[in-house]
Amino acid sequence: MKDLAWLEKHLRPLLQWGERCATVRPTVYNEFGPWTCLKLIALKYHIQIYTTIMNKQLPALPWKAIDYVDILAGSGLDRIRDTGSLVSGSTIVACEGPRYRKFDHILAIENNPEYAMALAKRLGLFRPRETYEVIGYDAANHEDTIERFLAQHNAHYLAFVDYEGLGGFPWSNMERLLRHRGDLFITFIPSVGRVWSRDWQGDREKIAKLVGDDVASRARTHDDLYTGYLENIRRIRPNSLDIRIQSGGSYYYALIFCAGQKRVPGWFDALNSLKSKIETFDGTDVREALDRIEGRQGTFSKQATKRP
Ligand SMILES: C[S@@+](CC[C@H](N)C(=O)[O-])C[C@H]1O[C@@H](n2cnc3c(N)ncnc32)[C@H](O)[C@@H]1O
Repeated sequence: MKDLAWLEKHLRPLLQWGERCATVRPTVYNEFGPWTCLKLIALKYHIQIYTTIMNKQLPALPWKAIDYVDILAGSGLDRIRDTGSLVSGSTIVACEGPRYRKFDHILAIENNPEYAMALAKRLGLFRPRETYEVIGYDAANHEDTIERFLAQHNAHYLAFVDYEGLGGFPWSNMERLLRHRGDLFITFIPSVGRVWSRDWQGDREKIAKLVGDDVASRARTHDDLYTGYLENIRRIRPNSLDIRIQSGGSYYYALIFCAGQKRVPGWFDALNSLKSKIETFDGTDVREALDRIEGRQGTFSKQATKRP
């Protein structure tokens, strides 16, 4: 059953933080469909669990810090296409999501210079300058930077790799990141279905770079790509689960969560309930909830099939 009160409760802070972000460079934002909020809610939910548990456990662990790494980070502000709502982007969710202990450091990589600059300024609203870094270049060339950042702080990490298009963070980088101790969220290449079906050689090569040559060469359908990709992730991270993010039309994508531990973490059940909850909703529920919260009568009802 859809718990609309739960959905609204989790949307409200995204809107509040978004309002604050919009005081800086208000015309610079990423633009997405309403279902993007489901992804942000899942991230926020996990961030609260992760930082609360690490707050207790860190003194007994070999790490000295917890860092958040946002690869393909965006501008820190997301505009929801159907409603005009402004919600905080993932990096800001990482600033404000924790309850008892903030991340010690944040690293964000974003290759659109305008977005990167706006994100850096927005981070300044939420955190001391010395605790974050924004790299305004191609994330594909920065796996070493991520590793240095984590090593410098002796940090356990939570990372988010939020794909858009067919570039950004190849499988070779992902494999290295997965071998470090930390938790990871990945949006499985949201445009891959559409691109796969048009069957262009150039696209096939880009897809192979993102999912790995072995997975791409075995795949007959784009579903095979996904299954193969998830299998490869589970080889390194056995405790991974995927959450279906649904537009309300035919379009959907997967948000994959990979736990850092080899054994099933004690809080994995909480993520399974998150999965059950998020999968009851779609973009239409989010659009209607945003309309209620922001006091609109209801926006013009379009089929929610446009891509992110
Ligand atoms: C899906 S959006 C991120 C949204 C963000 N995670 C959020 O929730 O607000 C992906 C971002 O990655 C950026 N991007 C795309 N290719 C990139 C690359 N090769 N290196 C760094 N950033 C890239 C895009 O400019 C875009 O802002």
